Amino acid sequence: MSGRVCVVGSFMMDLVANAPRRPFPGETLMGTGFATFLGGKGFNQAVASARAGATTALVGRRGGDEFGTMFHAALRAEGVHPGTVLVDDAVGTGVGLPVVEPDGQNSIIVVPRANLLVDIAQIEGSRQAIAESDVLLLQLELPVSTAVAAAQIARESGVLVVLNPAPSAVLPDSLLECVDILVPNQVELFDLINGPAASPADAAEILHARWGTDLVVTLGGDGVLVLSSTLGTHSFPAHQVVPVDTLGAGDVFCGNLGAELADGKDLLSAVARANAAAALAVTRPGGAVAAPRRAELDAFLSHGRLRSVNPSTASS
Ligand code: RIB
Repeated sequence: MSGRVCVVGSFMMDLVANAPRRPFPGETLMGTGFATFLGGKGFNQAVASARAGATTALVGRRGGDEFGTMFHAALRAEGVHPGTVLVDDAVGTGVGLPVVEPDGQNSIIVVPRANLLVDIAQIEGSRQAIAESDVLLLQLELPVSTAVAAAQIARESGVLVVLNPAPSAVLPDSLLECVDILVPNQVELFDLINGPAASPADAAEILHARWGTDLVVTLGGDGVLVLSSTLGTHSFPAHQVVPVDTLGAGDVFCGNLGAELADGKDLLSAVARANAAAALAVTRPGGAVAAPRRAELDAFLSHGRLRSVNPSTASS
């Protein structure tokens, strides 16, 4: 692997509750388990990218508190370059509050805290790290203005820009015009079209027709859908695994996608590998910590790779 990935993204200490279901308003519900994980979409994607074999840098902001110190140690342990992470002593490290249900599905509240202090000056100060990478990975847990600034630097420098539009937000034209590949999940896809669609496939068609950006839609148990102006439409079935925790699966997907693209792989090969990495990740708890290392993923794939299906050529 020779690729370089720069992630501009968040740190969130995940305080995870396992519960039979999400509580209703006014209800107190007994949970069945609790765990803490180092998370945040930026951190998760950076770790997944590094474990996939890419040289990985992370631009972000953490607190000077105990959570922040744990992130610092973890970045070093995972081989993610922490040189562009700033520390804020007044505002605490971001926190995530996921609820994981028995089928592994999750829903999350994030309180970004120090993540919201990432500003244009920090992005400018990270210009070299962004410009020297092959792929820039972005999400939306930092101020959108910083994603725009990072994407513009990448675009000027010929760096491929991959945006995971999570959590959902209105995407300004100044961001969209710099994005090469958009990677929403189903919820984010429907938020982005902001109108009716009969199915995720229809919603993806609408979005692709509207913006022309290559789309990679992650659909959990329904696999992955790719709509590309140059490669056409392709559907990747989900690998058959028993999910215990889907937390961060999309991040593992994005980190592996970025690493493969940075290594020069074509989009469909990169998606196939990212799809397998996410499948492995949902078989164990946590986000970043569940990301497979390259050798493990190689072994998983050698047991039988699932190929993509082009709906226009597939027989019924
Ligand atoms: O995508 C999963 C991540 O989203 C969690 O780690 C949580 O912190 C939120 O950022």
